[in-house]
Amino acid sequence: MSLIRIQNIMSNEVAKRVFLTRPPEPPFEYLLNDPTDSIFIGTTKLFGVPFTWSFATLTNPHLAVVGITGAGKSFFVKTFLIRASYIWNTNAIIVDWAGEYKAWVKQSGGVIISLSKGDYINIMDLSGMKPIDRVKQIMNSFDILTDIGDYPEQRRLTGEAMEQAYVNAGFVLSSVPEAGRDAPTLKDVTTLLEEKLQDGSYEYPAELENALYRLRQFTREGEDYFARKSTIDIGKLASSGLVDMDLSGLPDEKFRALAAMFILQTLKEKMRAEGWSSSKGLKAIVVLDEAWKVASDDRSDAITIVREGRKYQFGLIVASQNPTDVNEAIFSNVGTTVMLRIRFEKFMNYLQGSLNFSNFMRSAIGKFGVGQAAFDMSFHAAVQFPDVFLLERIVGEEPLDVYTINISEILTQSELADTSIQKEYYFERIDLNSKMIESGISSDIIISIFNDLDKKERIADVRDLVRLMMKRGVSKEVVVVFLRSMKMVDTTITRVFSYV
Ligand SMILES: Nc1ncnc2c1ncn2[C@@H]1O[C@H](COP(=O)(O)OP(=O)(O)OP(=O)(O)O)[C@@H](O)[C@H]1O
Ligand SMILES: [Mg+2]
Repeated sequence: MSLIRIQNIMSNEVAKRVFLTRPPEPPFEYLLNDPTDSIFIGTTKLFGVPFTWSFATLTNPHLAVVGITGAGKSFFVKTFLIRASYIWNTNAIIVDWAGEYKAWVKQSGGVIISLSKGDYINIMDLSGMKPIDRVKQIMNSFDILTDIGDYPEQRRLTGEAMEQAYVNAGFVLSSVPEAGRDAPTLKDVTTLLEEKLQDGSYEYPAELENALYRLRQFTREGEDYFARKSTIDIGKLASSGLVDMDLSGLPDEKFRALAAMFILQTLKEKMRAEGWSSSKGLKAIVVLDEAWKVASDDRSDAITIVREGRKYQFGLIVASQNPTDVNEAIFSNVGTTVMLRIRFEKFMNYLQGSLNFSNFMRSAIGKFGVGQAAFDMSFHAAVQFPDVFLLERIVGEEPLDVYTINISEILTQSELADTSIQKEYYFERIDLNSKMIESGISSDIIISIFNDLDKKERIADVRDLVRLMMKRGVSKEVVVVFLRSMKMVDTTITRVFSYV
């Protein structure tokens, strides 16, 4: 139920409130779709209409989700994926930069692929592609991730050696490979370059050495995550239910980005090869959460998926704290933008500039709590209503056990007044549980900590939480690891300990 509040305001204020002159929400027939062919998200703030998402009336099925840390981006993504799988049997592949979906995917019965922790991908695997196209793609990824593009001769040598490696392994460069033949690896490519160097006939040995040097960062023992025989069939990912590609174990951003690009390339090829079918809804969704390098580069396949996905019923979800990290070609073309809590003015300016919403909407977004959201939808047909509207909040799939860790008691007055400082941290039970496990706290201690937290209505002052841990023998070092995993900054952590 909505309440009407009467207040005195100036006429210029009234003018800013677009909702008084135009309908404040899309008409209900745009919001409420056939429940067997759409995804329930929540009820709208002004008229309380149940909003069910369908891309039938939208320009495409892709979504961008933006909001500050803790605003509820991942929560929304999880809710969306689960419901899409109920309604349409949609498969999902999460490119999980920080490993934050792992616990949830495990709990939901999905598959976790942990690169570097036992799972490997050979980026030369073809999944039905012609070798010559795969070489182009790999070189494209190297262009994005390294400066090899500035060294044309090294680039050429590397590409040629890759082609040679395929030929040596019995492939025909411009033919679709026969099933069952093993692709070569980047190690075979370095071997070819080494042989060329030793043979001494090539006239610019320095170029050759540098090309080798660049390639070896991916083939060195212990860092050869992409240069071994694959332990998984990437080609099948788009039809394997819920899959979490956990990249958090890879050593740095470059490796994570290379894995993400390879996954996107393979999925794009798969999508094109499978073509269109008349099934309902979405066949697969790829999630890129905080994968800014992959979402920002003009040459990324995320852009191709955004351009072509609709006709293949293939959706992309990009989630980011920073909307300017998402490539314009993606951001301005997604059919749906989900705005959760935004704190920084420059991001708000960017969003308001590109989505063109009212100041009324702007101030509402600025005041959002966790899970509250504004949606922008691009409808196929020209419409006569503002396409940004407010949701009461994203309604989650399962009853939530959210734990609140409060740090406001240890902040100074001026810090309390500073809106850029986070005062409360919210975690679902499984998130908090996995953070404690990953920090090295034993499971019986975790259970008893949860017991204590539950007695306190699941809200705790951070100092009390630390005391609960230390009282049970958790070392200071482990507590620090845990607090950092909550994304608490070191100065705050130091302050917590000075109190405890
Ligand atoms: N709509 C909601 N209803 C109830 N709880 C929510 C909602 N959205 C988020 N939460 C809770 O708030 C916490 C933070 O949410 P989430 O992890 O989704 O944030 P995020 O935006 O992904 O943050 P980050 O950028 O740090 O990954 C979680 O514990 C989650 O359960
Ligand atoms: Mg998140």
